[in-house]
Amino acid sequence: MTTGPGCGTVTATDTAVAAGTAVVSAGRTVCGEALARSAAERYYRVVVTVGLADVPEPGRWDNRAVEIRPLDPADRADAVALWHRAGLTRPWNPPEQDFDRAVTGPSSTVLGGFEHGRLAATAMVGHDGHRCWVYYAAVDPDRQATGLGRAMMEAAEAWARAAALPKIQLMVRSSNTGTLGFYDSLGYTVEDTVVLSRWLEQS
Ligand SMILES: CC(C)(COP(=O)(O)OP(=O)(O)OC[C@H]1O[C@@H](n2cnc3c(N)ncnc32)[C@H](O)[C@@H]1OP(=O)(O)O)[C@@H](O)C(=O)NCCC(=O)NCCS
Repeated sequence: MTTGPGCGTVTATDTAVAAGTAVVSAGRTVCGEALARSAAERYYRVVVTVGLADVPEPGRWDNRAVEIRPLDPADRADAVALWHRAGLTRPWNPPEQDFDRAVTGPSSTVLGGFEHGRLAATAMVGHDGHRCWVYYAAVDPDRQATGLGRAMMEAAEAWARAAALPKIQLMVRSSNTGTLGFYDSLGYTVEDTVVLSRWLEQS
């Protein structure tokens, strides 16, 4: 805000954190310029309406309505139900146990994307001290192809960066190669690597 000549200039910067209306008011009572004016002219009041510049295109995810945060144990049922709907669960992989380990572990979490308060997407992230791995990248079928999957992978990458990890990677089942185009559009490349594994019996 500024005042006229004779009173000097006062500048203030305000940052809008949400859409809405802000009222800015100021007054001068002691400088010569102000004293030469009527009392009513020494004050001003400005109403500022803050709009939204990033209104999503039709069919795109609404980033104003989505909150991405690490899930809590209380979110387990919603996450598991989403994974079932997204077709990611397998009988030999109890998703409840996967969720619990990731959410309670010291170097992992499950990121959840909430749209209007409803869990609509997940990405499980964890690291072994060397690489960041992503599992259960899932968007609710009725919200797929709106950009939410990209937002979840960007959140996973931000998590990995915060842990100072240089690389993020994931495995895609050979029955799910239709999703490779998704990862390709995010800049992921296919590694020249064979993944080996062995189930471990618990004592
Ligand atoms: C894979 C999945 C997470 C992608 O999420 P999504 O929200 O549908 O994808 P987005 O809308 O964010 O797509 C992001 C970009 O990838 C592209 N894309 C998405 N799926 C694609 C596909 N199958 N082939 C080619 N490109 C694809 C989109 O066109 C988009 O490109 P743009 O940003 O340039 O417009 C989601 O489809 C899903 O949950 N699938 C079922 C579960 C699953 O298979 N998960 C992966 C486990 S490895």
